[in-house]
Parts: sequence; structure tokens; C-alpha cells
Amino acid sequence: MAGLTLKNIQKIYPNGYHAVKDLNIDIKDGEFVSLVGPSGCGKTTTLRMIAGLESISGGELWIGDKLANNVAPKDRGIAMVFQSYALFPHMTVAANIGFGLKIKKVEKKIINEKIEWALDLLDLNGLGDRKPSQLSGGQRQRVALGRALVLDPEVLLLDEPLSNLDAKLRIKMRTELKRIHKQLKSTIIYVTHDQAEAMTLSDRIVVMKKGELMQIGSPSEVYNKPANKFVAGFIGSPPMNFIEGELIKDGENYIFKYNGNVYKLPSYLKDVIKEKIKGKEVVLGVRPEDFEISLQPIENAIEGMSIVTETLGSDDYVAVEVNKKLLSVRIEPDSNFPLDRKVYLTPKEEKFHIFNK
Ligand SMILES: Nc1ncnc2c1ncn2[C@@H]1O[C@H](COP(=O)(O)OP(=O)(O)OP(=O)(O)O)[C@@H](O)[C@H]1O
Ligand SMILES: [Mg+2]
Repeated sequence: MAGLTLKNIQKIYPNGYHAVKDLNIDIKDGEFVSLVGPSGCGKTTTLRMIAGLESISGGELWIGDKLANNVAPKDRGIAMVFQSYALFPHMTVAANIGFGLKIKKVEKKIINEKIEWALDLLDLNGLGDRKPSQLSGGQRQRVALGRALVLDPEVLLLDEPLSNLDAKLRIKMRTELKRIHKQLKSTIIYVTHDQAEAMTLSDRIVVMKKGELMQIGSPSEVYNKPANKFVAGFIGSPPMNFIEGELIKDGENYIFKYNGNVYKLPSYLKDVIKEKIKGKEVVLGVRPEDFEISLQPIENAIEGMSIVTETLGSDDYVAVEVNKKLLSVRIEPDSNFPLDRKVYLTPKEEKFHIFNK
């Protein structure tokens, strides 16, 4: 088993594009780490450099206690499942799954056992004799996963391995992956667009933007203590609400001035302000579930108008217009919230965030 260290890793493609910039990540042996970030931020590039499929333009990659920059892909103890699955079209499902073991000259009997194990685990029973072209996208994706799992890799790289599955199967596979990780104890680096997946599966989440690391932390850290406005807006659904305004010093504390209105900021924010706010142009951030909403006037509150309600299955939200922008506020389900009314928003205890604009 092996941990992994990325030290000032850079990727500059031959056309000059700087796809990964100075990436520093320390992954512990057996850890499950997710890479998240908008399309094009460098997630696949990072995985490919770790796997050895793409050269590293700068920095050091350590696998266990070995500098691996120039180690051949097959000697890295790494298996990767690609975003595009890359199955061999002329081989059956079973042959695809067993391919890596055959290359390693593993005994036929053991290969067959492993194939059976994978087919069963991935709900592919009875499909072993088919060709990839005779499978659905989701089934192909599971074959690709099986092909990597049978190798018992020390490090498993998964590039959106569940993206082609329907919602129900996705959730089942999510649970399976968690179980597989517990069982195999491999180090897993997992790329996903699905935040719920990243939150439920990971020990830690790496948030990237345009090739740069924005934050690395436990799911609860990136959710509750986002390092900056980008992470705050990226993690969480519906996303965090932002209100732009200006800071005014008021004795020991601060007042937030927005569009002619003022709001006295709770005093716990003053340490955060001292620590990371530069200048007076700021953005206040509050998650939809972190507002108290009242129809009765409240002395120090953010005032707005209730516009529409929206239901997302288990939760209901009301859109509140503040500063000509709509904020999303979670409300009691089935509460028949009155619309076109003046409402008063206050934050729950310790739940306001503040960022540089
Ligand atoms: N061979 C290449 N030559 C030049 N630029 C490339 C090459 N491959 C990828 N890129 C660019 O590098 C950036 C990162 O690409 P990458 O595939 O790592 O993104 P990603 O985060 O995996 O995105 P997605 O979520 O869409 O899969 C993109 O802007 C992409 O266009
Ligand atoms: Mg990608």
C-alpha cells in the first residue's frame, strides 16, 4: 500500500497551455480523496500525470517513499479508470476484466475467480460473454471499474467512474465503492462532478480552479469553512448566497452596508475580518439553510421580498429579493410561505461567511 505526495506539480502542454499550476497535495496511505472543480480545471490531467500517462512538467511526484516522476506507468502500482472507459472492443467483458491479470501472467484459475468476483460485485452477472458494443454506457463503465479492481492496485485513480449511470445505480455504486474501499484499503483518488458523491465518499476533498488548488480539507471543512468565495460557491447545493457590500468600522465591530441598507455584523466575524479581509469591498455569504426568516420586523436584519417558492424533493426554498438579486432561503416544507411580502433575514448562530470581493 502507498501514500502519495504531489510537490509543486506543474503541467504545461506542448501547445503552451498551463493546465496544472504548482499543485501540492499529500495523500495518506489508504485515504479516499476526491478532486472536484469546474470542467477544464485540470482534474484528468492531474490523474494522468499520477498514472504516468502524461509527463510531469515540473515538481515531484512521490508514490510511497519513491520519487516516481520517471517510473514507467506499469511499475507504479496504479490502476486508472478513464472518463471514457477505453475498453477493448474486440474482447468479451470477461476478457476485458481479466486482461491486466493475464498480462501479469496470473494463474488462469485465479483470473477466472477474480472475473467472477468482479462480475458479481458490479452487477454484471451473465454479461461476461458479451462484447462492449453490446452493453449500455453504464454497464461499460462498470466493466472498466472491474478491470481496475481485479488488479488490487495500491493506488486507484477513478475519473468520473459513475457519470454514465442512472441516479439509482449511481447511489448503489457509491455505497459499493465505499465498501470496496473499506475492503481493499487502496488509496483512491476520485474525480467527480457530483458533490454529493464527493461529500459522502471522501476523507478529504481537493477543490481546484483553473489548474490551481483552492482548498484541501475534510467534507465538513470545505463546507463549513470554505477558504474563499470560489470554494464557498462551488461546494453546496443550492449554492451559498452572496451579497456584495462595504465594511464600515463601528467601534469594536463592523457594519455591512449594501445598496443603501445597513446591517450590523455579528461580533464573531471580526476575527475573520482581521485575519483575511483586505480593503472594505466585501461579499457576505450565507447558505440557504442558515437563514432565519421572519415576516415580523426585526431590528437588525437583512430585508427583502419573498418572490417564489421552490421545492427540491425533501426541502423547500423561498427566493427572496435583496439588492435586486434573488437569495435562496430554506423554509419548512409545505409551509405555504406567503409571497410578495416583506421578509426579515437573520443568520443562524456562527453561520455567516465573509470574503474579499
Ligand atoms: N493535450 C492537450 N493539449 C493542450 N491542452 C490540453 C490537452 N489536454 C487537456 N488540455 C487542456 O487542459 C485543461 C485541463 O484539462 P483536463 O482534461 O485536465 O480538465 P478536467 O478538469 O478533467 O475537465 P472535465 O471536468 O471537463 O473532464 C483544459 O483547459 C484542456 O483544454
Ligand atoms: Mg476530466
